[in-house]
Amino acid sequence: MTTTNLIEFDETNQTFHLHNASISYLIGLDKGGFVSHLYFGRRIQHYHGQLKNPRRDRGFSDNLPGSKDRAFSLDFLLQEYSSKGDGDFRSSAAIIRQTDGTRSAFFTYDHYVIEWGKPKLAGLPAAYVEDPAEAQTLSLFLTDQPSGLTVILKYTIYRDRNVIARSTELVNQGKTTVAIEKLASMQLDLPAQSKQVISLPGAHVNERHLERAEINFGRKIFESRRGTTSHQMNNFIAVCDPDTNEFQGEVYGFNLVYSGNHQEEIEKDQFGALRILAGINPDQFDWELKPTARFQTPEVLLSYSATGLNGLSATLHALLRERVARSKFKAQPRPILVNNWEATFWNFNEPKLREIVDDAKNLGLEMFVLDDGWFGHRDKDDSSLGDWHVSEKKFPQGLAHFSKYVHQQGLQFGLWVEPEMISLDSDLYRQHPDYMLRVPGREPSVSREQFVLDLGRKAVRENVHQQLKAILDHCQIEYIKWDMNRHITDVYSAALPAHRQGEVLHRYVLGLYQLLEELTTEYPDILWEGCSGGGGRFDTGLMYYMPQSWVSDNTDAIARLQIQTGTSLAYPLSSMESHVSVSPNQQTGRMASFETRGHVAMSGVLGYELDLTKMTPTEKAIVKKQIALYKEIRMTVQYGQFIRLVHTNNRYAWMFVNSDKTDVVVFSFKILSEAQPDFKILKLAGLAPERLYRNATTNEVMGGDELMLTGFYEENQAEDFSSAIYHLVAVD
Ligand code: DGJ
Repeated sequence: MTTTNLIEFDETNQTFHLHNASISYLIGLDKGGFVSHLYFGRRIQHYHGQLKNPRRDRGFSDNLPGSKDRAFSLDFLLQEYSSKGDGDFRSSAAIIRQTDGTRSAFFTYDHYVIEWGKPKLAGLPAAYVEDPAEAQTLSLFLTDQPSGLTVILKYTIYRDRNVIARSTELVNQGKTTVAIEKLASMQLDLPAQSKQVISLPGAHVNERHLERAEINFGRKIFESRRGTTSHQMNNFIAVCDPDTNEFQGEVYGFNLVYSGNHQEEIEKDQFGALRILAGINPDQFDWELKPTARFQTPEVLLSYSATGLNGLSATLHALLRERVARSKFKAQPRPILVNNWEATFWNFNEPKLREIVDDAKNLGLEMFVLDDGWFGHRDKDDSSLGDWHVSEKKFPQGLAHFSKYVHQQGLQFGLWVEPEMISLDSDLYRQHPDYMLRVPGREPSVSREQFVLDLGRKAVRENVHQQLKAILDHCQIEYIKWDMNRHITDVYSAALPAHRQGEVLHRYVLGLYQLLEELTTEYPDILWEGCSGGGGRFDTGLMYYMPQSWVSDNTDAIARLQIQTGTSLAYPLSSMESHVSVSPNQQTGRMASFETRGHVAMSGVLGYELDLTKMTPTEKAIVKKQIALYKEIRMTVQYGQFIRLVHTNNRYAWMFVNSDKTDVVVFSFKILSEAQPDFKILKLAGLAPERLYRNATTNEVMGGDELMLTGFYEENQAEDFSSAIYHLVAVD
């Protein structure tokens, strides 16, 4: 075991240097005890401490209280963490309402602690280590003397990953109660330079498009105010140089490990410097902190790549797969499933499902997933959420009996649940109307005829827990799809006094994490999958409990090209559940071939979501082949390196390479056919240049360097929505 330090404090220069073989992060202690940011980027081997934050007397930038030094101002110091009222007029990381109603705080350096490993974050998901020697953690303690508040800035650097995990904790060591109005998880101030930002905005059935924009003067905000991560704006952003592309250039990634309201801010200040903040959204947030109490923010995974966006994705994919997901399935082949949702919606009975199961068995599928509609008297979306007992009408002999049938056919059995919700037409509501989030004296807003449970309350969680336990203990179930189909509007908890209603949304997320922690610990043999009306809660926080998620309710292969490309920027392919559905597609009406639908769905965790019993013999033969092929390439797709080769308006190409570079899968897609297409060369990447690769279909052999440098001409297919697969195997 190597124990070379990853973090050093230089007494002479008063700097902390966090480093591994590839990256360096430098923090300085500046005048008055302010903690300044010096550098984050490629590894510096020989740091001599010459870099200091510059001084200048700048008009309207105030100086420290009582100081005559007009050249030192927090208004332009690159800080590690800022607070309202400290003379830094940029967006603040912390806004604390003091007992006297003011929002002033000056957090200055007190001491530091360096330890091996990575301490857990109380009640929150976070990246972890399996061995303390994998990482080292620096905690910087900053205090605001008059109030007795301490901010702890935590930085964990991994030895073998280009990642620094950051979070902040606030401890009230004073004598009076304060309120947190904002506490960002991290701040990164970068010196003046031209940068661009990439975000992942979207909508329901249209999630996570890659959007790239200039960072101009002023503030840019990416956020969710919907109570959950949201389809509308994912909690991941990247900041890169204008000339960074998929293969070259610098890029920083900011991945907030959280599943509720979030905010990522970028401010370009008056002198062109950049401030990046990420954390819980201050909107509707207000947290009472009594003396001795502590508040831990969610974590941000701050990543760095000097090799473009693909380099950043490779770092994040490995980190999320290996050190965020905790499931025993995190490195196992994920089952190829069939889900009955788009085949039947709520309209099914056991004989109909048995027909699908029989076909699934014949086609080589591995799991049958029973979606919405199996419980209470739910024949549409207006009832029964909260009543997690099987519908006797649909399963006269019970769910365990049906599950047994599925297993007898050699398939595993998965089940859909939506445990965070309540229908007005439910026994749960009739018995416990106060379990629902609603504002007293107002009609709650309706969405899909359902309402949200107050998961911040223990009694509510326990009720849901017991109901789920009864099913899981009674029935053989290998997979749970955990859905959440509305956003949170009526933010009021019957369990909290008026002045603490600003805690409701964060307490909801903490309650959800608590419930998931209990259930996933109790049932470690279940493969848990996240879902929120498709990909509305596709985030790193949920990945800690559930290693995969339903990417989108949009199953149109062509629409999925954009959605899966965007998702892949931050999230591993093993987490992206992707299904072949019927053509014309139910969401877009678009028609695409089985091949194209298969190739898109195979570029993730493959499943099927259509009525298998309605397929023609020809279609069944195609599906059988797809499943057989996917079983061959599955480990490379799910756990290999993923590379975005091309994504333009009309063309996409994705590639997967296993860890020893012996198995390579490339999918290429053309959207619209062209009358006079140019000759398209496809150049691969990430291969072993000295090796030879054989095309598994044509047997043609090419060199690794040849495939990467000359590439090969792709055949033109004279049809819309066409696709091709190239499976290359190293010749030994
Ligand atoms: C939304 C999910 O994304 C769908 O896959 C399906 O499970 C429905 N909910 C069921 O209500």
